[in-house]
Amino acid sequence: MQLLDGKKISNDIKNEITVEVQKMKDRGEKVPHLAAVLVGNNGASLTYVGSKVRSCEQIGFESTLLHLEDTITEEELLVKIDELNQNDEIDGFIVQLPLPKHIDEQKILMAIDSSKDVDGFHPENFGKMAMDMESFIPATPYGILELIERYKIETSGKHTVVIGRSHIVGRPMSILLSRKGYPGDSTVTLTHSRTENIAEITRSADIIISALGVPNFLKGDMVKEGVVVIDVGITRVPDATAEKGYVITGDVDFEEVSKKASFITPVPGGVGPMTIAMLLKNTLLARERRMK
Ligand code: GUN
Repeated sequence: MQLLDGKKISNDIKNEITVEVQKMKDRGEKVPHLAAVLVGNNGASLTYVGSKVRSCEQIGFESTLLHLEDTITEEELLVKIDELNQNDEIDGFIVQLPLPKHIDEQKILMAIDSSKDVDGFHPENFGKMAMDMESFIPATPYGILELIERYKIETSGKHTVVIGRSHIVGRPMSILLSRKGYPGDSTVTLTHSRTENIAEITRSADIIISALGVPNFLKGDMVKEGVVVIDVGITRVPDATAEKGYVITGDVDFEEVSKKASFITPVPGGVGPMTIAMLLKNTLLARERRMK
């Protein structure tokens, strides 16, 4: 069994980006600038956005955090989005999800200029991705593709089972791994909460990507010998003995499944760090595309 070390690979990618940023500086060019919009004080969102901003500093990007009150109206937020769209200093930006209930998430995502949509959540980017056109690929699926490539995992003709159909992970993942070429050419089954006999399906999988958000859902008897397992779950499970009062738990029963897997991601330290690295990569691409 080999661990898919997202921490190491994400550091490699950050180092590669740092080199590119230095080249931009040497040429006297403007460095990439990422902005993050955070509405309210959701604990997990604060952590994620904080680490996105810190990562920008690490690799030499400019960053801006727009932290807004959760009482902001949809109209006011749309004005802020438009300002970011118009601001020539900003190469890419993200609106951290989830948004408060009174704001229509789809309306906000639709308002983002697709050329600055480094999360790849705008339907124009999603559609282009599905049609093999140049786009921004959502960071988590993009990170999983990088892990697959850098560990040279065979995907052609393999049965890949994706668990979870979210717009952010499961749905785009299923499209990306069925595309022509590497890493793709997989026969993909997209499973979800309504899937019947899921264990029968996962047992026939060569590759399993689980983005369900149910701690320890995937058990040892649900996988075959030699399976590749990528765990996207990051549920906070209360634990009084833990420093923060919770532990981050994946969808996969690591203890059981790692005994049968050929490759497996740890949680934490697997997919999580890759997501941030690929957001930075998308921001670099946004800068480069704006210079064309
Ligand atoms: N919420 C959970 N994951 C993400 C992400 O990748 N981007 C944004 N904007 N919000 C999220």
